[in-house]
Amino acid sequence: MEEQKQRGTFTNKLGFVLAAAGSAVGLGNLWRFPYLAAKYGGGIFLLVYLILAVTFGFALMITEIALGRKTHLSAVGAYKALDKRFGFLGSLACVVPFIITPYYCVIGGWVLKYLTVFVTNHVADAATDEFFGGYISQPMAPVIFFLIYVILGLVIVMLGVEGGIEKASRLMMPILVVMTVIIAVFGMSQPGAMDGVKYYLMPDFSRFSATTVLAALGQLFYSMSLAMGIMITYGSYMKKDAHLEKSVRQIELFDTGIAFMAGLMIIPAVFAFSGGSEEALGKGPSLMFVTLPKVFESMKFGTVIGAIFFLLVLFAALTSSISLTETLVSILCDKLKWGRKKACAIVLLFVIAVGVPVSLGFGPLSFVAPFGMSLLDFFDFISNSVMMPIVAFLTCIFVGYVIKPKAIIEEAEINGKFKVKKFYTIIIKYIAPVCLVAILAFSIMEVLGIITV
Ligand code: PHE
Repeated sequence: MEEQKQRGTFTNKLGFVLAAAGSAVGLGNLWRFPYLAAKYGGGIFLLVYLILAVTFGFALMITEIALGRKTHLSAVGAYKALDKRFGFLGSLACVVPFIITPYYCVIGGWVLKYLTVFVTNHVADAATDEFFGGYISQPMAPVIFFLIYVILGLVIVMLGVEGGIEKASRLMMPILVVMTVIIAVFGMSQPGAMDGVKYYLMPDFSRFSATTVLAALGQLFYSMSLAMGIMITYGSYMKKDAHLEKSVRQIELFDTGIAFMAGLMIIPAVFAFSGGSEEALGKGPSLMFVTLPKVFESMKFGTVIGAIFFLLVLFAALTSSISLTETLVSILCDKLKWGRKKACAIVLLFVIAVGVPVSLGFGPLSFVAPFGMSLLDFFDFISNSVMMPIVAFLTCIFVGYVIKPKAIIEEAEINGKFKVKKFYTIIIKYIAPVCLVAILAFSIMEVLGIITV
């Protein structure tokens, strides 16, 4: 009860959508989506992603926001409040942001480094094939940029200016979108880029596999901040008069739109500047950092445009990592009843303790390669391809068979009609749980080498 009284609410409907979108739009859209799309067959990945977004993504986001708004609690308490046996699910969901935050800040450090590269006019160096790999394999520099990034986030939180950053990013976000469009158009006008546009937009069904679906699903959760308790917390702050279905559609549209544009900015450029070979497309986490400097180098005023672009990416990354850090702090405060200062200090130590090895995983610690993956890829895999699908599956069981879809539908209908409630029920009860188990089983077998798809 105590918590209910203290909990503030978003002052207006757009405020909720913007805040949720601010958390949702980040490196997931700009950095992660394009490299996965490039790696997993382009058009087929895009198609699978879009289908999942309007089915699974939609249903899960409605569910999570409704759970939060109904109980006025964050994930830790929300499941427990509705059914004691499912308290563990809240805790399980809370593990995910702990896995993501440290490596998210490592990438934040890469963005910061690239901003300095552009500001100091070293674009030509950055445009070479060796630059990025050479940079991240150094023992010191990437760790230092990671630490600066983490401290930057912390200072913002400590000064209590997150609100200011959120506001600034609301202004910057539209500029980022416009710039993405401009860079995409430029990239597409380069010789050879049209093959990339085709690769990105035309699905090649022979590339379809369980791993494509799992990769798209993990990306969907990551990008929309689902299956990790975050949308439940956002929902707990949402006023009862906002239309749930509409808000969710707006967030989805915004988030997916930006991811789509980021893909259009990067994939055709890979074809134009690196030839679009299997190797060039399969670069993984380094794709954005390898490709974009080449684009900027060949552009008029590319140095300035690149510097502004990386500054905007930095803002998008910061708003997301601040919301991740805030989540960790509030989990510790809620669960362990720690004070805010103590929780902040422990979170900081934790992020550094895990983030430093992740950064070194590309250099001195590269011999640590669980299942043949770099440490960053490994953490990314555990959170996105294992934990999130499990949390999502259990959430479907919880809603479908324990509290029943009606509970969510009622919450969604407090203000206005829930137009697709039948569709929602079918997804939550049958389609999502069955597909999630199948996808998870297939891909784990694939990683363990039991099957090859
Ligand atoms: N959704 C964010 C992104 O796309 C990542 C994130 C996850 C941010 C969870 C906040 C909370 O980058």
